[in-house]
Amino acid sequence: MKTQREYWDKKIDEWSSAAYGRKSQISVIEKIATYFRAVNKRKDIAIKLIGPIAKNKIFLDLGCGMGEFSFELASYFPKKIIAVDISKNAIQEINKIINKNNLDNIVECHVTDIRNEKKLPNCDIIVGLGFIDYLSKKELNHLFKMIGNKPYLFSYFEKKTSLFNLLHKIYITIQKCPGAYKYSRKEIREIIPQISKPLFIQKDGLQFITNMSFDTVDNL
Ligand SMILES: C[S@@+](CC[C@H](N)C(=O)[O-])C[C@H]1O[C@@H](n2cnc3c(N)ncnc32)[C@H](O)[C@@H]1O
Repeated sequence: MKTQREYWDKKIDEWSSAAYGRKSQISVIEKIATYFRAVNKRKDIAIKLIGPIAKNKIFLDLGCGMGEFSFELASYFPKKIIAVDISKNAIQEINKIINKNNLDNIVECHVTDIRNEKKLPNCDIIVGLGFIDYLSKKELNHLFKMIGNKPYLFSYFEKKTSLFNLLHKIYITIQKCPGAYKYSRKEIREIIPQISKPLFIQKDGLQFITNMSFDTVDNL
């Protein structure tokens, strides 16, 4: 069985290229999975929510992948974006983009397995797209204990009977993903400590949890 790090080191380039429409060798199964996951739309929704409040803020992008969300957010004048990911291959690619575009004063990135952290870096807002889906209940609870009452926005896959969830389960099994989790709203409420109490946002079949209120939520 691969570790989460080994899985993502091998997977992230194809996953990200398929998700954001970059040219690369993409398997048929990844193309089908991408269609159902709507990752690009998920990023667009997060940008619509977060972009307008980004100015002068320090962001922490957890499980940043190849940095598509972070780089788009960079154009909304944040003070800084700290992008972290378990995959060194993902962080290597982000570093190349940072250097090529002289973004080192805005985006910094680190290889980090968030499950092993005792404290999160200093930041104003925490974001994670397609990230908490790879944390067990215990790991999720640990993450939210570190978050405390800081503002956050996470996407997640809701546990429910659906064609997407059935196909996703098959995909995860075929890909031998070492750990992927789906949670119901009830479970999320139970896992997340009271201090970071979640509100749920749903748009076009995509789900988010947050403890912020957004002016843009009605215009998504
Ligand atoms: C589905 S991808 C999402 C990437 C990116 N957020 C996006 O939406 O384009 C999940 C990302 O979470 C990262 N990840 C998974 N477990 C992690 C952990 N324990 N600590 C840090 N990153 C992790 C993976 O390496 C991968 O890049």
